[in-house]
Amino acid sequence: MDRVFLRHVGPGDLTDAETSSLTELYEQVAGDFVPPLTFRSGTTQGGLRDLGRAESDDYFEQMLGQDLIVAMQADQVIGFLSFRARYEDSRFQRVCPCIYVSTIAVRHDQRRNGIARKLYAHLFELPDDLPDWVVLRTWSTNTSHLGLLTDLGFGMVLSIPDDRAENVDTVYLAARRVTSPDDEAGGSAPTTAHSVPDLA
Ligand SMILES: CC(C)(COP(=O)(O)OP(=O)(O)OC[C@H]1O[C@@H](n2cnc3c(N)ncnc32)[C@H](O)[C@@H]1OP(=O)(O)O)[C@@H](O)C(=O)NCCC(=O)NCCS
Repeated sequence: MDRVFLRHVGPGDLTDAETSSLTELYEQVAGDFVPPLTFRSGTTQGGLRDLGRAESDDYFEQMLGQDLIVAMQADQVIGFLSFRARYEDSRFQRVCPCIYVSTIAVRHDQRRNGIARKLYAHLFELPDDLPDWVVLRTWSTNTSHLGLLTDLGFGMVLSIPDDRAENVDTVYLAARRVTSPDDEAGGSAPTTAHSVPDLA
């Protein structure tokens, strides 16, 4: 089997071949998200419940304008993570500015092979001039992703009940890439959840 290698690509710096492979992967996984990425108008969109079913490329176009970490195998993108390098949000100000992970996904036939774990490891090892905190959001029933995040030391910083559907919340989680000398817990994430009913 061909070796998997990871690459950090700055905004807009994918080659044409990589963009075409990423497009193929995006089309395969977009419907795995709740709600599907093709129904969204952007990567940080609020109000994710009852979006309607109009398909668009808006999410993908925004994603291409962000930093990406791609997992490559034999010239194919088999997994990717998109992120905003310096993100601010007043609802979790104490972990900002942060690296905000907007998307992570792995090709169906490559799941449970540790690719997502590798993508996060690569993100956590990016240079120190990027923010210490990594923040992301997911839906509360996404057990495959939440299992991994707990394992990596992420803790919840914000929960928005019923944001995606009845009993399907949006949860924001954070983890620190860099441990501060006076942090006895050694990089542990904040665990206090705040309930914020409306998105800005
Ligand atoms: C979530 C996702 C990125 C995980 O990718 P992956 O490469 O399969 O994950 P890994 O192989 O690195 O798994 C790491 C750990 O995550 C957990 N995990 C991953 N998939 C799981 C599943 N289906 N069920 C339970 N736990 C799971 C396990 O703890 C696993 O460790 P283990 O294999 O040693 O038990 C992938 O399932 C995916 O693309 N899902 C659809 C998109 C998505 O939900 N993205 C996140 C939205 S915010």
